[in-house]
Amino acid sequence: MPPSLNLAGFIKEYVIGIPELDEQHETFFTMLDNIADVAPDLYKPLDDDEADALIDVVGELREYALLHFRTEEGCMREVEYPGLDKQKEAHNRFITDVIRMEADLLNGTAMPAIKVRNFMHDWYRDHILGLDKPFGEFYSKNKP
Ligand SMILES: [Fe+2]
Ligand SMILES: [Fe+2]
Repeated sequence: MPPSLNLAGFIKEYVIGIPELDEQHETFFTMLDNIADVAPDLYKPLDDDEADALIDVVGELREYALLHFRTEEGCMREVEYPGLDKQKEAHNRFITDVIRMEADLLNGTAMPAIKVRNFMHDWYRDHILGLDKPFGEFYSKNKP
């Protein structure tokens, strides 16, 4: 049996201290649950209908991530954050990888939903802990 997943796992460790961005991070993790709604067995290769539904969900997650990255980069400009370019590069790479996954799904590549879900979940978690948290500290010291 695969380990059970806590799909809406927003934990205190992820809080970066900028309420608008924390809310967006939490919303993204909550939206990840929609993957399990369209593909209840996350480990099984998707049938055509499930793949179509998953493509829609992944598109919504990508749109939401874009909105979030724009908001976050705006906060970085506000305080002339020196790590902005590194963040932008990471954000753009995430969007590119997600678009590639969407293309694979559209092309009928047999892919279990867990692969998509884990990629998005783990990228977001690692990105928040590795890059967004240091920005949160910088912001709290330099905010106008
Ligand atoms: Fe970020
Ligand atoms: Fe972020």
